[in-house]
This record gives sequence, structure tokens and C-alpha cells, in this order.
Amino acid sequence: MNIEDIPLRKVDGIEERIEHRLAGVGIDSAFELASSSPYEIMSIVGGDSYNAALLIANARSHLIKKGYMAREFIAASEIARRKKNVLSTGSKALDSLLAGGIETDSITEFYGAFGSGKSQICHTASVLCNLKPEDGGLGGNAIYIDTEGTFRVNRIAQIAEARGLNKDEILDCIFYCRVFNVPHLETVARSLGGYIRKNRIKLVIIDSIINLFRSEFIGREALAERQQKLNALMHKLHNLAEVYDIAVIITNQVQSSPTAYFTDTTNPAGGNILGHGSTYRIYLKRSGNYRIAAIIDSPYHPYSEARFAITDKGVSDTDD
Ligand code: GTP
Ligand code: MG
Repeated sequence: MNIEDIPLRKVDGIEERIEHRLAGVGIDSAFELASSSPYEIMSIVGGDSYNAALLIANARSHLIKKGYMAREFIAASEIARRKKNVLSTGSKALDSLLAGGIETDSITEFYGAFGSGKSQICHTASVLCNLKPEDGGLGGNAIYIDTEGTFRVNRIAQIAEARGLNKDEILDCIFYCRVFNVPHLETVARSLGGYIRKNRIKLVIIDSIINLFRSEFIGREALAERQQKLNALMHKLHNLAEVYDIAVIITNQVQSSPTAYFTDTTNPAGGNILGHGSTYRIYLKRSGNYRIAAIIDSPYHPYSEARFAITDKGVSDTDD
């Protein structure tokens, strides 16, 4: 479904001057306004954070009225009746670990050591995203934001062909964006909303979310600023996931913990901000020829593990 264009002027409280300013930075519809933060809007239109928050709330009310967003108070029974939109990972075992697959309206984080399969999961998900929901896809396009330069078009083509899909069609459905530094990533994040709406995007991938922050904010003095920026980015991703009902996949690296002497010394990087910001956290590790995924944090899954393989098909089952 293409998302309708809802001009800003339909939102209560948007005067011509404000509309003009917001449009100047690419916020040109109720969707983009609804997925912005008050701080972001305040820095563009001036005034105080109360007014900025009011404009965002008005945009959200408008989208609720139009049926694009859920009402603020919904009966739990109605939530129970709703069908979840999920994207297959390519492996049935990994999908069942995630109770069906990678959910929309959520952030799913995969973390693990180098070579544990994080980027392979991203490649496979971006191939499968355009499939119809009955075939495990989300029926839309994918954005692949690459901070490490490890995206491989050949690998996408290989995964598509091994799965009997038309590689040229799949390549047309993946929008690639190489990001070189944190300010660049922040600019891209700001313009994501309009891009999602105009290009039928159903999945946004950031592979990896932490890499640039780790290399640009070094030492304890820089930690507070790094975490504040990371927090703003996670909030933005949450808002986008909710407003556009898209899936978001982020990958994260591990850091060794000097205090964990006997236990597993690999903790996810990014501290509490990433820990609280991700809806689902999955730890990946190698195990012989296979990979093990463990669900570490989830609002409703108990701790459990699944085994999967990486083959020509990308992520797949061990008996595939
Ligand atoms: P870093 O980004 O370095 O932290 O690691 P990562 O977790 O992203 O690792 P990635 O997903 O790139 O996994 C790399 C591993 O996937 C390789 O060691 C291979 O085992 C496997 N792999 C990569 N490409 C192929 C391929 O074309 N065919 C097969 N069968 N396996 C592949
Ligand atoms: Mg990688």
C-alpha cells in the first residue's frame, strides 16, 4: 500500500510560517511530523518544547483519525485480535525463536562477534522483504544503511537466485545508503520518514548502529554526548517503526567486560541506551559450521536458543 500524502496544513496549529520552515528540512507531511521529536521540531520552528510537542501530538491525532495509527487507548482484546506483520529471517528455526519472524512496529537488534552472521541476516532480510506476506515477506522495499562498507550486491544476487527469485527485481527493491560519520547518519535519519513514505519501505536496516559512534566518541569525556546522540537515534527509529508500521533491524558489536571473569565476556556495546531501546535483542555466535541465536531480551519471549546455517540462500535452516 502506498501511503497517502497528508500535507502539513491539515494538522491543527500549523501556520504557513511553520509549514514553510518544516518543509525546508524535508518535513512535508503529517507522517514526518508525527515521527519527529519535540527537540527536533523546536530547533526548526523555534518556540518552546511544549508547543513543539503539541504540534507532534496534533499530527498523531490526525493520523489516528485517518486510521493510519492506533488509537491511544485500545481494548487488550482488540490487540489480541490483530494480526502481527512479521518478516521471515530465512530460517524457520530462527523465525520460531522470534515467534514468527522480525516484527514491524519494533526494533530488533542482532549482536555478536565478527563473523557471527549479523550482516548475513541483514542481507537475507533485505532480499525477503519484498515477498508477499504469505511467502514470509512484508510486501515492500528495504533500506540498507551501511556504516561499515560490508554490503555486497553480489551476495544479494546470490541469495535471491538460490531462492529462485528474480535477482534484478530484488535489487530494485533495496535502497542502499553508505554512511560515513555520525553527523551523516543523523542527517540520513532525519530524512528517513519522507523516504519511507514515498518508496513503499517496509524495512530499515542499520548495519551496524554502533560502529561510527565507537570510533568518533573516544574516552570517558565523550561518553555522555555519545549516549545522548545514540538515544536520539533510537527514539527516531522507534517513532518511524510505529508511525509507518515498518520493521527495523539494527546490528551491534560486542565488547569484552573486564569484570566478567568466569561468565561469557561478550556483552553488547552501546550500554543501557541500546539495551532499553531495542524491543528484541538477539545474541549470535558461531558453533561449528552453524550459528546459534539466543533471545536475550524481549517483552514476552522466554530465554531460548535456535540453530541456523549460512549458505548460498543466506540465512537458512541447518537441514536446508
Ligand atoms: P562483523 O561485521 O565483522 O562484526 O561480522 P558479522 O557478524 O556481520 O558477520 P557476517 O554476517 O558478515 O558473517 C560472515 C560469515 O558469513 C562468514 O564467515 C561466512 O561464514 C558466512 N558467509 C558470508 N558470505 C557467505 C557466502 O557467500 N556463502 C556462505 N555459505 N557463507 C557466507
Ligand atoms: Mg557485519
